[in-house]
Amino acid sequence: WHVAVLMGGWSAERPVSLSSGEGVAKALESRGHRVTRIDMDRDVALRLSETRPDVVFNALHGVPGEDGTVQGMMDLMGFTYTHSGLATSVIAIDKQLTKQALVPHGIPMPGGHIVPSESLFEGDPLPRPYVVKPVNEGSSVGVAIVTEGGNYGSPIGRDVEGPWLHFEELLAEPYIRGRELTTAVLGDEALLVTELRPKSGFYDFDAKYTDGMTEHVCPADIPPEIGEACKAIALRAHQLLGCKGASRSDFRWDDEQGIEGLFLLEVNTQPGMTPLSLVPEQAARLGIDYAELVERIVEDALN
Ligand code: DAL
Ligand code: MG
Repeated sequence: WHVAVLMGGWSAERPVSLSSGEGVAKALESRGHRVTRIDMDRDVALRLSETRPDVVFNALHGVPGEDGTVQGMMDLMGFTYTHSGLATSVIAIDKQLTKQALVPHGIPMPGGHIVPSESLFEGDPLPRPYVVKPVNEGSSVGVAIVTEGGNYGSPIGRDVEGPWLHFEELLAEPYIRGRELTTAVLGDEALLVTELRPKSGFYDFDAKYTDGMTEHVCPADIPPEIGEACKAIALRAHQLLGCKGASRSDFRWDDEQGIEGLFLLEVNTQPGMTPLSLVPEQAARLGIDYAELVERIVEDALN
């Protein structure tokens, strides 16, 4: 095949996407495929029409790239591309729209609501502890956990590093104590459950992409019914949203509450493919090496 690997772009996750894209490109080359690397800029449509690939591997993360804009452009231009299509991407990139799509089907997700960022200067939108996050960023960009005694959003102290300075609106959700779990779906199969144990703080951008900062326990050391529930929810969410190729569902589990404490946070339609990323790690555990994983995602797009 001739594969155009679309990566980079100008989202906050640009460096992550360049890492994913380079990994994917090298893997495809190692399998004998012809690869054209495209670092997305405003001339992306022109670059794609000049390249005329058999298939585009979408290795973009964040906005634009994971949000349907690039998917819609490729639909119009008649390109075949990996991962989810336009409608799925529009919903899944938005954590609040995702809830509206999935909660009526019985998928457990935390409550929460959108607040103007400015309002956080006036007071707390929810009882502490709570989380504020942009609705459509990835890799924990802009996420803050507001705890008792912390000064986020409180009239008694303004943390200038607060995420509301960069985003007009934020999603406020109750903080779920306990454990961080994730499950990949490849094709129509949920893979495994990984527990992320950051060495300090939470599983934020640095903990995600700095080697050694987070312990990955795969398969997670959790009761079988919790593991089965993660897999069932991840697969069902993938299907309800109409995801294609690969997705990854992120969870919080309050281990004092049993199954009642399990909540899906979001579905990632463009999951990371970096050396520390979780979909490749789960696939490898099941004997699917990185290059084979990449080929399977491409095959899924071509079929
Ligand atoms: N947003 C990052 C790339 C992920 O979900 O893996
Ligand atoms: Mg995400």
